[in-house]
This record gives sequence, structure tokens and C-alpha cells, in this order.
Amino acid sequence: MDRELQWTLVLAICASSLFNILAQNTQLTYRNRAIDYSGVISIDCGVNESYTDKTTNLRYQADDIQFGEIYNTSSICNMNVSQIHKQLNTLRSFPYGKRNCYTLTPKQGKNKKYIIRAHFAYGNYDNKNEGPVFDLHLGVNFFKTINSTEAEVIRIEAIHFASTETIDLCLVNTDQGVPFISLLELWPLDNSIYQSSSTLLTLDLLTRLNLGASEDNFIRYTDDIYGRSWEVSNYYTKNPLKTSSAIDLDKLVDPYQLPAEVLSSAVEALDSKSLEFTPNYTMDSEYYVYLHFFDFADRTNKQKRRLNIVINDFDDKNVKQVLTLSYWKPNSIILPIKHGMGIRKISIEADTDCELPAMLNALEIYRVVPQSDSSTQQEDVDAIWHIKDVYMINKMNWQGDPCGPKNFTWEGVKCSNGNTPRIISLNLSSSKLSGEIDSSFSNLTCLETLDLSNNELTGEVPESFAELSQLKFLNLSKNMLTGSVPESLKAKSSNNSLQLSLDGNLHPCQTGSSKSNHKFIIPLVASMTAFVVVVLTISTVVMVIWRLRKKGKVISSISVKDELLKSTNQVFSFSEIVRITNNFTTIIGKGGFGKVYLGTLECEKRVAVKILSSPSAQGYKEFQSEAKLLMHVHHRNVVSLVGYCDEGDTRALIYEYLPEGNLLQKLSDKNPSFLEWTQRLKIAMDAANGLDYLHNGCKPPVIHRDLKTSNILLDENMHAKISDFGVSKTFANDSDTYVTTYPAGTPGYLDPEFYCSGTLNKKSDVYSFGIILLELITGQPALRGTPENLSYILPWVNNKLRTGNIHEIVDPRLHGKYNGASAWKFIGIAMSCLPQVPIHRPDIGHIALELKDCLSLELSLERAVSNVRDTLVLSSRQIEFH
Ligand SMILES: *[C@@H]1O[C@H](CO)[C@@H](O)[C@H](O)[C@H]1NC(C)=O
Ligand SMILES: *[C@@H]1O[C@H](CO)[C@@H](O)[C@H](O)[C@H]1NC(C)=O
Ligand SMILES: *[C@@H]1O[C@H](CO)[C@@H](O)[C@H](O)[C@H]1NC(C)=O
Ligand SMILES: *[C@@H]1O[C@H](CO)[C@@H](O)[C@H](O)[C@H]1NC(C)=O
Ligand SMILES: *[C@@H]1O[C@H](CO)[C@@H](O)[C@H](O)[C@H]1NC(C)=O
Ligand SMILES: *[C@@H]1O[C@H](CO)[C@@H](O)[C@H](O)[C@H]1NC(C)=O
Ligand SMILES: *[C@@H]1O[C@H](CO)[C@@H](O)[C@H](O)[C@H]1NC(C)=O
Ligand SMILES: *[C@@H]1O[C@H](CO)[C@@H](O)[C@H](O)[C@H]1NC(C)=O
Ligand SMILES: *[C@@H]1O[C@H](CO)[C@@H](O)[C@H](O)[C@H]1NC(C)=O
Ligand SMILES: *[C@@H]1O[C@H](CO)[C@@H](O)[C@H](O)[C@H]1NC(C)=O
Repeated sequence: MDRELQWTLVLAICASSLFNILAQNTQLTYRNRAIDYSGVISIDCGVNESYTDKTTNLRYQADDIQFGEIYNTSSICNMNVSQIHKQLNTLRSFPYGKRNCYTLTPKQGKNKKYIIRAHFAYGNYDNKNEGPVFDLHLGVNFFKTINSTEAEVIRIEAIHFASTETIDLCLVNTDQGVPFISLLELWPLDNSIYQSSSTLLTLDLLTRLNLGASEDNFIRYTDDIYGRSWEVSNYYTKNPLKTSSAIDLDKLVDPYQLPAEVLSSAVEALDSKSLEFTPNYTMDSEYYVYLHFFDFADRTNKQKRRLNIVINDFDDKNVKQVLTLSYWKPNSIILPIKHGMGIRKISIEADTDCELPAMLNALEIYRVVPQSDSSTQQEDVDAIWHIKDVYMINKMNWQGDPCGPKNFTWEGVKCSNGNTPRIISLNLSSSKLSGEIDSSFSNLTCLETLDLSNNELTGEVPESFAELSQLKFLNLSKNMLTGSVPESLKAKSSNNSLQLSLDGNLHPCQTGSSKSNHKFIIPLVASMTAFVVVVLTISTVVMVIWRLRKKGKVISSISVKDELLKSTNQVFSFSEIVRITNNFTTIIGKGGFGKVYLGTLECEKRVAVKILSSPSAQGYKEFQSEAKLLMHVHHRNVVSLVGYCDEGDTRALIYEYLPEGNLLQKLSDKNPSFLEWTQRLKIAMDAANGLDYLHNGCKPPVIHRDLKTSNILLDENMHAKISDFGVSKTFANDSDTYVTTYPAGTPGYLDPEFYCSGTLNKKSDVYSFGIILLELITGQPALRGTPENLSYILPWVNNKLRTGNIHEIVDPRLHGKYNGASAWKFIGIAMSCLPQVPIHRPDIGHIALELKDCLSLELSLERAVSNVRDTLVLSSRQIEFH
């Protein structure tokens, strides 16, 4: 029986005269609702002028879209489709560009459901008799592929929740012909209907049937207040049920606002007690089925109609629902069909003790459109569209959402990767921009890079650029800018937090004074200059001396709070900590003094948030020590501090997030993707550089005191950074040692000297570093076994070294993929860090250089091998040719 079903919405217009308009309206016995057309957008693609359709009274806009070409269809037969007449006789095609978009701005705005409907009627407009195939995107997500040869008119319809002010419908060229569109409509919908698991879902209409209606009864507006088209299927007219009573829609409570036409007809199970529908929808989608009931059948008082609704069979993968119909009350139910179930059968059967058989008035099935991307933050969208308008930028792909889908990010735009993409880079170099620098650039608050070089921009550099807190690169060179550079930008560029280029402007005034006293200063400049220079010089010198002195004192006395406030790091409140960690959802590790959570700052920057767990004195000391230290150290191989929180009992440090975790995890045999040899050498070199900076680059030097593989973190490029400074100490001078009774450090890494004298110094860090190198080489942990039977890595390696077989030392997972020479050198460097007597261990600076040599040795050996291979290939080719 499913053969008879028409489960597709592709309408074969010419072939059928199924749909024959309003004609029936005159006999109908119901009263129509008044339709509010005010939020409806109807675009008749390809017409020159807006008009009002005489039959439907609908207003159709012309599409004043920037790109594309307009055509009349040449061979479309009498397009008299369900009140769509001449709308399908014109179209717009898009021969240029990969993606072309219509951006609709409904006046009801965002956080609202809409029906988006589009028609595609090829009509051989290009006389090629070859209907194109192309993709349709709704918002930032793929919606479906349109194959225009499947039918003469193709209609798509979506229920779409707009989370942004605008809705983009984009046609994407997939190299299978030129995309086109004939008609595009948007109807606002009540948010309470067509519910699904998440309001944010987009639903793709697969089928919408008006059951029991006569064949010629295709309805749309003005009957349906949402402009829904209800189709009639032959099969379901077999046991039709109709009412001739007048239906006054105003007196019914029906959120779905079904047209009276739909309510007044139904199908009923006559012989059997069950109605069955057998669509065939695959298991690789999620679906929603909406069933609409309106029981109008006359009955004796006590007769009941109770229905069991089952989707698919009575196996474990089904959906069941029980429903009792009340007389003359519309009732719509929602059946969610999970991914992996598919829809094979929908059966509606009456309860055995009921006298009345099953019935159904209308049926809708939707597919959930998978959402892979999300829309760009609204403020960024507004700003970039404003920039596009102001400078009349007509870059071909500046259409739709600026960031998504990822393949279609606007030319010159780069976006962050988070839940809500943000624009982080904008390159409008050599784009013929003229006029002043618009203030909306400053609305792109996550911008890190802005390149406006080589344009014809005039006026001054706006003060508002200071609001771009993330800005690290600003190129304004080769423009016609005048005036002075805002102080804030100058300050940022003088401490290297901003790379600013301004050369090649008409009147560059980089050293210029502030704008307000410009006029006043000029006449005085000549006489004042000398004086000013002298005064400035003296005051600068005084300031520097004063500051240095103050700083000297600070180290011993000032509290964390004061210092943090002075530093560049951000201060976070407890509520901000809750927000950025999403109420402490994701634990990413356990640090020296508490748990570490994943956090997300604005601009979608991920951070690690380390919370001090117990407010013990020791813990607080470590917190302070780490905070103090990290405020002063900045190195690419040392983890950097973003901010801190010290509010009530909550003490937290916020660091940059390092997605690749720590070296302990990477070397663990549980890690399926082990590290390659050169990666290990690079990590060793990075860590050595970080430690060299702490020991020799910091004044006073910093002794880490707890170096171990779990404190070496890796960023997305596998660059290593040293972390966890909870027990670190600063030393007044190089020869100082630190005497402690409090055990710092971790067994397996601890300098043996510590056991004798209880002292730790730089050379203790070098010892721990040597152990880390051995772990990198061998893939073994520093310490193994049970407390009774501990096995340390150093004696193990010493033992193996006596046999002289390097392959027994190096991590067997590498399967010999390293060069013997570099392996020997690496082991040599590690062992040089590990003498019992601290003074025999080299300085870390020396180790760093040795590791660098070792890496270049490995790389040059690898290159030599591949050169030999190339030469061999080449010579074998030559042999072939001769
Ligand atoms: C639209 O107007 C242009 C000129 O303004 C004309 O060349 C073109 O044929 C018109 N197209 C249609 C479909 O009326
Ligand atoms: C398209 O058809 C309309 C009306 O039939 C006509 O006015 C217009 O000139 C045609 N345009 C083109 C480009 O053929
Ligand atoms: C299209 O339908 C309308 C309304 O039923 C009718 O008046 C008109 O003649 C039809 N047009 C054609 C070309 O058949
Ligand atoms: C488009 O549809 C036609 C006819 O149904 C079919 O022959 C063709 O393979 C389809 N093309 C694609 C790319 O799916
Ligand atoms: C359902 O559709 C699939 C392909 O989409 C087809 O292979 C299968 O035979 C169909 N099943 C029925 C019962 O029609
Ligand atoms: C820029 O931001 C300001 C303040 O938030 C706002 O008033 C203005 O409309 C924004 N401009 C654009 C173009 O989005
Ligand atoms: C995006 O690009 C990738 C790689 O180029 C490709 O595999 C994928 O199909 C593209 N996605 C879309 C939606 O075009
Ligand atoms: C911007 O694009 C131009 C080429 O279009 C390129 O030369 C320049 O390096 C880019 N700027 C940045 C900051 O990437
Ligand atoms: C700034 O832009 C100019 C012109 O496009 C280019 O020559 C210069 O190298 C850029 N400066 C930087 C730092 O990239
Ligand atoms: C550089 O100076 C600016 C402006 O005073 C300040 O906001 C920024 O935090 C400073 N950056 C560093 C790394 O000191």
C-alpha cells in the first residue's frame, strides 16, 4: 500500500492537475482567521519591481541582491501551483561565486521560530535542458542538496529558530551547474508549536498531509495563517470522514492554527481498528512526527475514542503514546524519533474496549537538520556588515555569516573556534577603502589582528581602538591618515603588546601630542622644546631610579593582592570564575594545590582555572608564591598567567590553556599516539629553554624545585611549557641555597644532595631535569613498583649503559626510528645532569645548547637519509630513460 503514498514534497506540476486553487473556497462552511501578513517576507526572485499579487493579496518584493543574474523561465508550463502563479516565471541564478546568500531580516527579530520556504523552478531558463544540482545552507548549516532535475518545481520548507537578527539562506555551487532560486518566503511562527528537544533545532519538512480531503483540495493561504501547504494523498481518501458542521476557528483552542479545511476531514479505520502509515525514512537522521486530531464525529454520549500510537514495531526501538480524544477539541501530539531508529511504520489503533475506531486528520514529518556550526556573535556580525556597507566592499564571498560554515569564512576574516565564533582577524589591506576609519571596527572586540594598510583612509586613528583589548597587530601604513596616534595605542606599542605600523601616511605624527592642546602647543614648540627635553630627561631618570628602588623593596614585603592589581593580569570575581568554568563543569587536572578546571573567557579563549582547594596556610602560601612568581616571568616556554581570583575563601589562578596536556600523559603507555623522537628532542629543548630563563634570565633567579613530567605542559603545536610554581623560590644570588624542612619536590626526581644537606639550589632543578630527559628517552616513568620494591630510572639506565646496547635504553615504541648518533648524544646530555655531587652538574644554559645541537644533528641526519633516497630514485629514473 505504501506504493500509493506520495511521501515527497517534490511537486510534479505540469504532469498533474492535482492542485486547483481556491475555487472550492466558496462552498466552505467555515470562517477564516484573519491573517496578519505584516511579518511575512515574500521575495519573488528575478522580478524588477515589487508588486501585490491580485489573487492572494500577498505583497511580493523584488530581490535587490547584489550578485547574480535574472531570467524568465522559457519552458515552464502553466505555473498555476497552489496560488503561486507568476512567481515561478522568473528566477535569479548565480553564475559567480561559490556561495550566494539571501539575508532576511524579519521584523520579529531573533529568538523566534520561522517557516522558511523556497521554490526552485528551473524551466529551462538557460536553454541547456540541464537542471543544476547545488547545496542549500540555512544559517551556518548545510540544509539539503537541491537536484532541480527531480521535478519541475521543487519546494523546500524549514522550521527554523533564529538565534540571530538575520537569517541567511545560501545557495552553494557544487560544480554541478549554476544555482538558482525562484521564490523565497518567510512566515513568523508561534514559538510554542513544533516543539522539539531543543528550541534551537532546524526542522526540514518531509511530508505534510491533509487526510481524508478530496483530491483537488490543495490549500495554502489564505486558508492557512502560516502559509503551510497541505497535500492530499489518494490512499488516505479511502476511508474518508468529513464533517459538514460549521467550524468556527475563533472558538477552538488550537496552537497549531490548523486551517478549517484540515480539521474538517479525516481518515478513519473502518474494517480493522488500526490505521497504518508506512513511510520509509532511514535510520541516519533524527525525526519529529506531529499528528493532528480533531474528533468531529457524532457519537452517543459514552462512546470514547482512545488511541495507542506506535512508531515502528513492538520491538525495543519504538515510540508509544496513548491519547484520548475529546469531541470537537483539536489535539496535536509530538513523537520524537531518535537517530538510529528510522520511521518504518506509524500505527494508530483504538483501544480494544472503545467503540470508536482510530482516526487521524493530518500528519507532518520533519527531519532534524544536523547542526555543525554556530552563528557568529551578533555584535561582530553587525559590525562587519556595517563595515561592508560603509566602505561598499564588494568582495564576492562577503555574504551570509562571516565565520560559518567554516569553509565559507569571509575573505580576509579569521574567526575563533568556540561555541559562538568571534572575529579575531580582519585583513582589508589593498581593498580601496576610503574615508575615515569607521568606529565600528572597534565593535569587533575580539580582534587580535587588523590590517588596513594600503588604502585611501583619511582622518585620524580613532581613540576607540583602545577598546580592542586583544589587539596585537595593527597595520595602518600606506594610507592618508593625519593627526596623532592615541596615547593608549602608543603605550601598548611601546611595551610591545601591540605591533603598530603607521609608515607611509601623509602626515604621520607618531610622536604627536594629544589632540586637545595641539593648537596651543605649536607656537610654543620652538622655544619650549629644549626646556621640555631637559625636564623630561631629568624626570625620567628620577622616575626610573625611584621605581627601581621601590621595586627592590617590593619583592620582600608587598602582598599578592596589591601586586596583582598593578600587574597586567586580570582580577576575577568569584561569580566570574563560576561563569567561565561553566559552574566547574570540566576538570582537566589536579595541580599542586587543587583541582584545575577548563574555562572559557570572552572571545572564546580557553583557560585553565586552578582552584586552591583548602584554605590551609600551606596552600595559601603556595598560591601566593606561584601568583607572585608568574606575574614577573614571561617566556614562551613558561606557562603564562591570565589572571587570578582572591575573593573570600576562593583563591584561583587562571592560566593559558594547553590543549595537549602534560608530558606524563604523553609518555604513558596508555597513550596510543606515542611521541616521535624529534618531538621528544624538541620538548626537551623547549623545557631546557624555559628552565634556562628561570635560572639565568630572571633577576633574581627562580628555582622551580618540583620539576617533573606532569609539570611540563604542551600547547597545540606540541611546544613545551613549564608549569606549577607552587613551591618555587626566588634567590637573591646565584650561589644561594635554600634550606628547608618542608619537603619540596617529588620522589624519583629529587636531588640526592637534598637528603644529605636538606638544601636545594639550581643544580637540584638540573638533576630533576636529567630525570625528565631519561623518561623522554626511555619512555619509562621516573619511579616504578610498589613502596616495598621501588625501582628508580637512573640505576636502570646505568645498568643498561654497561652493556652498551642503546636499543635497550631507547623507548621500544619508537621501533628504532631515530639515529644512533643523536640517541647517544641525548643520553649523554641526560646523564651529564645526574652526578651525585651538585657542582659536577652543568648549568641549564649549557644543557639547552647541547640539546639544540642534538636536535640539529638528528634533523641533518634525517635530511641526509632522504637526500640519499631522492638521489637513488633520480638515478633509477635516469637509468630508465637511457
Ligand atoms: C528588468 O529591467 C531591466 C532594465 O531595467 C531589463 O533589461 C530587464 O529585461 C528587466 N527584467 C525583467 C525580468 O523584467
Ligand atoms: C520576462 O517576462 C516579462 C513578462 O512576461 C516581460 O515583461 C519581461 O520583459 C521579460 N524579461 C526578459 C528578460 O525576458
Ligand atoms: C490560474 O488559476 C487562476 C485561479 O484559479 C485562474 O484564474 C487562471 O486562469 C489560471 N491561469 C492559467 C494560465 O491557467
Ligand atoms: C538528479 O536527479 C536526476 C533525476 O532524478 C538523477 O538522474 C541524477 O543522478 C541526480 N543527480 C544527482 C547529483 O543526484
Ligand atoms: C526503504 O528505502 C530503502 C532505501 O532508501 C530501500 O532500500 C528499502 O527497500 C525501502 N524499504 C521499503 C520497505 O520500501
Ligand atoms: C557599536 O557598538 C555600539 C555600542 O555597543 C553600538 O551602539 C553601535 O550600534 C555598534 N555599531 C555597529 C555598527 O554595530
Ligand atoms: C569543507 O571543506 C572540506 C575540505 O576542503 C571538504 O571535505 C568538505 O566537504 C567541505 N564542506 C562543505 C560543506 O563544503
Ligand atoms: C593581508 O593580506 C595581504 C594580501 O592580501 C598580505 O600581504 C598581508 O600579509 C595580510 N596581512 C596580514 C596581517 O596577514
Ligand atoms: C604593513 O602593510 C604594508 C603595506 O601593505 C607592508 O608593506 C608592511 O610590511 C606591513 N607591516 C607589517 C609589520 O606587516
Ligand atoms: C602595555 O601597556 C598597556 C597600556 O598601558 C597595558 O594595557 C598592557 O597591559 C601592557 N602590557 C604589558 C605586557 O605590560
